[in-house]
Amino acid sequence: MPIDPASRRQFLAFLAASPLAAAAGIDRDWLARLGSSTADDDAVLGAAESMSYRAAGTHAVLQPPLIANASDALDVFDFEGVAKQNIPVAHWGYLMTGTDDDGTIAANRAGFDRYTLKPRRLVDVSTIDASVSFYGTRYASPIVVNPLGSQKGFHKDGEIAVAKAAKAKDHLMVLSTVATTSIEDTIAARGGPVWFQLYHQSDWSITKQMVKRAERAGAPAIAFTVDLLGGSNRETMIREARKDTRDCIKCHLGGAPLPGVSGRVDDRDNRRKPNLVGYEKLPPQLEKGTPTWEFVDRLKQSTSMKVWLKGIVTQEDAALAVEHGVDGLFVSNHGGRAENSRRATIVSLPDVVQGTGGRIPVICDGGFRRGTDVFKAIALGATAAGIGRPYIWGLGAFGQEGVEAVLAILRKEFELTMKQSGTPTLKQISARHIAPA
Ligand code: GLV
Repeated sequence: MPIDPASRRQFLAFLAASPLAAAAGIDRDWLARLGSSTADDDAVLGAAESMSYRAAGTHAVLQPPLIANASDALDVFDFEGVAKQNIPVAHWGYLMTGTDDDGTIAANRAGFDRYTLKPRRLVDVSTIDASVSFYGTRYASPIVVNPLGSQKGFHKDGEIAVAKAAKAKDHLMVLSTVATTSIEDTIAARGGPVWFQLYHQSDWSITKQMVKRAERAGAPAIAFTVDLLGGSNRETMIREARKDTRDCIKCHLGGAPLPGVSGRVDDRDNRRKPNLVGYEKLPPQLEKGTPTWEFVDRLKQSTSMKVWLKGIVTQEDAALAVEHGVDGLFVSNHGGRAENSRRATIVSLPDVVQGTGGRIPVICDGGFRRGTDVFKAIALGATAAGIGRPYIWGLGAFGQEGVEAVLAILRKEFELTMKQSGTPTLKQISARHIAPA
């Protein structure tokens, strides 16, 4: 049945006016043309609808129907609504929050639209190799399961389910300092190396023990997170927590520790943050101020593990990292939850790669939701791409099965993009396979 032209114009005007549409890079002129076109209404509205919620990425304007099984999912967004329904609202707020108005989350997504694909034809792509190696371990795909805290707050199996999924699908996993599972248990569930993300503690004697513990457990690398050293303003998290009627203290005996803030974890509650507790009470070596490059040097000297920095977004800091012997960089704005820079990580990536001069590997994260996003990052010089919220949507929706499905979807999309681009290996993906939009 034809849609009433006035309603149609009103709907398109709503989409055009929405700040989310603008943030997602939806072209207002295109929407205006749709408003006056005589094309089939269903196709027009279907395209506009799917564009609005897909492009908005994390804050769906219009929700697709919820899926009943992990195998029904067509893309990673299909898990979001189911996870939201299953996860307590305060925890959902913790997962989805950015900073201030969450503008950097939207910017991360919109950043991918600044690049288009330039596929090459008539290349034999009947077999492809998307594998990547780190420190003697080869992974089937350059999609990394990035650190994300408190996963038992999203599903009872938490990081164990994620580690088993990473094992089943053969992905590198990085465990958060503020995980609800220990590094030892996670490595056992992964059945292989897991990297450890490090939040420094205000007492170096504790940080040192934490680093040694990760090393003893078998982590080949640590990722020292440097993008929250000044703190962050998380409004969505606080607003959602206010909607939760439960008493936080019932689960978080010592309170829910914030990243980078130490001294708030209660040893009686080591179910919650096992990587933060159980250390020997040695004479304190209190940090003076927040970490600087001197801390990075100290960290390097304190371990035989590879030391990566997570949260580098400039050419200058990338060059300094190389000077200080850092082994690799995560280009990251903490999923839009560090400063509200509104600078997409995919935009920061070329700067950082330039700063490293190709001397150390770079993993880019922030808003990766599609195989084409991963392809663009590899084309811009990333060694791999990290994902966060999408695998937690899978976890919250269907546990381990959901995480596996998310990983499988992203891998399938990425490999399809490799084939269609005429790039059967990661090495062949170059800046010539993309162009500015
Ligand atoms: C933890 O890393 C957080 O961003 O909350």
